[in-house]
Amino acid sequence: MIIRKAEYTASAVNRQQYPENSGPEIALAGRSNVGKSSLINKFINRKNLARTGNTPGKTQMLNFYHINDEWFFVDLPGYGYAKVSKDVHSRWGKMMEEYFSTRENLRAVIQVVDIRHKPSAEDQEMQAFLRTRGIPVLVAATKADKIARGQWPKYLKVIAESLNLPDWQMILPFSAESGNGLDDLHKAVEEILTV
Ligand code: GTP
Ligand code: MG
Repeated sequence: MIIRKAEYTASAVNRQQYPENSGPEIALAGRSNVGKSSLINKFINRKNLARTGNTPGKTQMLNFYHINDEWFFVDLPGYGYAKVSKDVHSRWGKMMEEYFSTRENLRAVIQVVDIRHKPSAEDQEMQAFLRTRGIPVLVAATKADKIARGQWPKYLKVIAESLNLPDWQMILPFSAESGNGLDDLHKAVEEILTV
């Protein structure tokens, strides 16, 4: 996929704030600080269009990025950040529930996990939730630069088992640092957008 144009469109905490401009959407879900925003930036080859950082919880709203004037990446706020208050946590839940249950433009979710870590209970819940809703989900195991390539299968098998995926080769190893997996991710997104 050639990225001709990528621009930030909107941030939203409820459906009234979603962009009206219709077009298919691919949302990024994953633990806080796992690398969702970095994956978007790498994908569109921009340093910091999607804001990234070391502080978990950097992305607190749904952020919409319009790609090639055709489709959107939706950067979802991360889950599993222990320090947020109960209030913030319940707001997060409502925000996600509203998006997943009302957004007809949603075509698929890229669930981002850290290749080094066994998925958390929240990762498992998210995977199960998306499956129950019949939302297509692609698992990307990011920060693959942190592990030698020869070791990837070992780690991907742990992730597959924990998320109940039938085959670890369904998981896409990725690195926003090295660009590993970028071509495959571009292909996967193209496929999602053509069905
Ligand atoms: P929230 O917005 O808080 O949910 O986080 P996020 O999932 O958007 O994570 P973000 O992209 O901001 O990245 C968090 C940290 O991980 C940053 O310091 C990134 O530089 C680092 N990071 C992200 N992807 C990679 C990667 O592929 N490899 C390495 N080594 N570091 C990465
Ligand atoms: Mg982010």
